[in-house]
Amino acid sequence: MRHFIKRIAILFAVAGAVTLVGWKVDAEPNRTTMPELAGLVHYTTVRRGNVTEHIMTTKEAIQAVKNGQPIPPGTHFVLVDYRDGQVYRTFVMEKGSGWGGDYDEDRRTGDWQFQWFKPDGSVNMAENTARCQSCHSSRADEDFLYTLDDLKAFDGAVID
Ligand code: HEC
Repeated sequence: MRHFIKRIAILFAVAGAVTLVGWKVDAEPNRTTMPELAGLVHYTTVRRGNVTEHIMTTKEAIQAVKNGQPIPPGTHFVLVDYRDGQVYRTFVMEKGSGWGGDYDEDRRTGDWQFQWFKPDGSVNMAENTARCQSCHSSRADEDFLYTLDDLKAFDGAVID
């Protein structure tokens, strides 16, 4: 019996170590920062059930898109996810010169990096942002954005 308990204890210790390693693999602070939201332009709103998403970016990015130019480095795109009127999470994409070089080619999303911020501003360490990149890579032709068409159509009034 004693032997058995010792074995169980070892098993738990190993499982714990594996869990910890797994968590470290997922945890991923990167270069993406949380911008000052007041400085951004909210151009479209997406609603789905009890979820309301406010999507915003910089004036410079909007100007570049309108002029048919590439979105400049230093641009943030932010998706604030509200559930029942409260901020539930904030998704951020940020572009920086050469930032794509941080990732292997099969994961790279141009020079964009992605992050999930909790309402208190901290990074959600349980998220592997490769998932964000994997889904957004299907939009490679639209600079990895899902709402580029809304941005093109934006005339100063939030699209809803
Ligand atoms: C399964 C696909 C999928 C995954 C995974 C995903 N996104 Fe998106 N993302 C979308 C779609 C679709 C939209 C457009 C808004 C909508 O329909 O909700 C979007 C919109 C955005 C936007 C607004 C700019 C744009 O592309 O229109 C940001 C910022 C964003 N996502 C960041 C993230 C981050 C950060 C993660 C990971 C934590 C992530 N996304 C994971 C599909 C995805």
